[in-house]
Amino acid sequence: MNKLFDLTGKTALITGSSRGLGFSYAEGLASAGANVVLSAVHKKTLDAAVTKLKNQGYHVTGYVMDVSKEEQIIDTFNQLDKAGIQIDIVINNAGIQHRQPMVELELKDWQRVMDIHLTGTFLVSREAAKRMIKRHSSGKFINICSLTSEQARPTVAPYTAAKGGIKMLTRSMAAEWGQYNIQANAIGPGYILTDMNEALVNDKAFDTWVKNSNPAKRWGKPEELIGTAIFLSSAASDYINGQVIYVDGGWLAVL
Ligand SMILES: NC(=O)c1ccc[n+]([C@@H]2O[C@H](COP(=O)([O-])OP(=O)(O)OC[C@H]3O[C@@H](n4cnc5c(N)ncnc54)[C@H](OP(=O)(O)O)[C@@H]3O)[C@@H](O)[C@H]2O)c1
Repeated sequence: MNKLFDLTGKTALITGSSRGLGFSYAEGLASAGANVVLSAVHKKTLDAAVTKLKNQGYHVTGYVMDVSKEEQIIDTFNQLDKAGIQIDIVINNAGIQHRQPMVELELKDWQRVMDIHLTGTFLVSREAAKRMIKRHSSGKFINICSLTSEQARPTVAPYTAAKGGIKMLTRSMAAEWGQYNIQANAIGPGYILTDMNEALVNDKAFDTWVKNSNPAKRWGKPEELIGTAIFLSSAASDYINGQVIYVDGGWLAVL
């Protein structure tokens, strides 16, 4: 591996990494040499993901951490401190979707999406950054945006508001932490084949719309985000801060 992209000696915390894109980032960063801390809500799926990566010879551990619960986040970072694990890279990936017209949307459902995506990204980043700054080490944050950080669609208002917020939170992180040699950037995936999109893939009209609208004429695959995740985690991106890289097959480039 070119030294610019080598993550040997670095430790990455990836939220929501028991499956889907988070697992793919975990596998990708581990293959670039990083030690990886996986985390998710459901222990059984998390343990299975940890075992799968361990069986490939990677250095991984798993922590149950619901990013919508501040006390669980603080507790996890305290456990990491006790175990002597210092986080150099954070991928704020945990997420859910909630589809409903806005006039029917209840506050609790709005709040849950905002808590997991936007507030979770803030809280996990705060805990990691305060430790990086205290120990005078560099650091990398990769937040997960979406096409909805730029464009809206009906029935996903809280997700759209949260993803737009994550884009600006990324810039706030760059503005405050750049002076400490900490970079915060974001990946904006297009429509990628994961559990989150299962219903959309099975919806013939939606599937056809995706394939017709995207210059690539197809859905993306989780492994197609790995290169960007390694780049934004590595020394190769040390002078890039506050940016969103859209990995969308060219979708946002066209009308
Ligand atoms: N797939 C796409 O096309 C696409 C496009 C743009 C952006 N994204 C973003 O990419 C991220 C991952 O999406 P995905 O498609 O991989 O989703 P996914 O397959 O549904 O996986 C979601 C992951 O997040 C975890 N999670 C859910 N709620 C959590 C919480 N409260 N605390 C911690 N972890 C939690 C899940 O763990 P449990 O199993 O334990 O719940 C799981 O590991 C999300 O931020 C999503 O918005 C996805």
